[in-house]
Amino acid sequence: MISTLPTKAIPDYWRWFPEARLGMFIHWGPYAVYGRGEQVLFRERLDQHEYAQAACNWNPQHADPAAWVKTAKRMGMKYAVLTTRHHDGFCLWDSKLTDYTTACQAAKRDFVREYVDACRAEGLRVGLYYSLADWRIPAYWAGSARDPEGWETFRNYVHGQVRELLTNYGQVDEFWFDGAWPHSAVEWKSWDLVDMMRELQPHILINNRLGVVPKEVMAEMGEHADGGLGAGESKVLGDFGTPEHHITADATRIWESCNTMTWRLWGFTNGERWRGADQLLDMILDAAGKGGNMLLNVGPTADGEMPPEAIERAEAIGEWMDVHSEVVFNTEPGDVCEFVTYGRQMRSGNTLYLVIRFWDGRETLHLGGLAARVKRATLLTTGQELPFTQTEDDLYVHGLPKESPTKLFPVIKLECEGPLEARPWAVDRLWCGDSGRMTEWAAARGTSVFTDGKAR
Ligand code: GLC
Repeated sequence: MISTLPTKAIPDYWRWFPEARLGMFIHWGPYAVYGRGEQVLFRERLDQHEYAQAACNWNPQHADPAAWVKTAKRMGMKYAVLTTRHHDGFCLWDSKLTDYTTACQAAKRDFVREYVDACRAEGLRVGLYYSLADWRIPAYWAGSARDPEGWETFRNYVHGQVRELLTNYGQVDEFWFDGAWPHSAVEWKSWDLVDMMRELQPHILINNRLGVVPKEVMAEMGEHADGGLGAGESKVLGDFGTPEHHITADATRIWESCNTMTWRLWGFTNGERWRGADQLLDMILDAAGKGGNMLLNVGPTADGEMPPEAIERAEAIGEWMDVHSEVVFNTEPGDVCEFVTYGRQMRSGNTLYLVIRFWDGRETLHLGGLAARVKRATLLTTGQELPFTQTEDDLYVHGLPKESPTKLFPVIKLECEGPLEARPWAVDRLWCGDSGRMTEWAAARGTSVFTDGKAR
């Protein structure tokens, strides 16, 4: 079935985003010293003084943002998003509003500056992640009702830091809020925040984690309840959706699914398992095939190094992208007909790509239900043109090699004469939502449940 892109029109200066398809999320901060994820301070109720001490002593000698960005680029990524400050409150830039920063403490470096410079040098768009939450601050926990004054000071600090980030680092393409919970968009004054951001950077894209809009305000806006999605995500605020740990299309706006290259945690974690390059590539294709972006996370080590597992995966996926990037970029969402048993379908104009996840060594591949007439079939992976036969209902592509021609997924490119349409019977998956329509097909062998056994 052909699904369509989110209908909300976007301005031209945001076009880069849905076209980018793939970005690198970088979670990095003093939590990497502990090697137990980015939330270790809170999850383990660590002593605040000891954590702050460790953060101030943190001196990552081998941090090389240029190398991180090169890894992202090798993987085919078009942008990156760096945690400028996570929920622990420690800042990776030279903030004038606090001394709890890498610039003031042991490292004596402004990593945000190094990172934005590196992105620009490699031609990647610049994204900044900023946690509204700051787990060191009592007023953050107390909230505006219990500590109005403390809250006001804290909120001004937050707004002030966002202003710094959008004033001192040149063009920022994407801003990624997080940690709005448990406070609402009213408490964060998210509307003021957004106004200020647009004034400073008119073309910026802001994510939807600006706090949930309370019911009464939604009613005033003439909208239904905001719903309170997972991570302080608002349905009405922000420019793009941020499904996390799942790849679900947002029908109403552009979106970016954030996922980890490892199994679960975002910050560097000792001994965490890694997803294979094949699974990561499949996730990238899943998002692209649904019309969205994949923001894949990596957590550099405490010393600032890209974990070797990430570099390996970037190399494997990059090698595949060298030959197959047209499958990921410039494609449109939706399948044409049933193909799930083999792999994925990607489409672009009159061209259909079959991304084959299971190479079984057969010489011929069968695709049922394609109505469009094929002009040319190519094994994109090798560039070899493939002979094919096509009837009204069925396409047979021949001449496939016995061994898979790539370590990842081989792709067959089908250039068709006209629009990618499916035969009516194949439009809604094989049994068209009504299993009864397959009765005739099965009845060709008779109706008894016993006869086959007797016949043998
Ligand atoms: C969640 C987590 C946070 C992580 C973020 C990434 O909000 O709390 O640790 O940075 O997801 O999407």
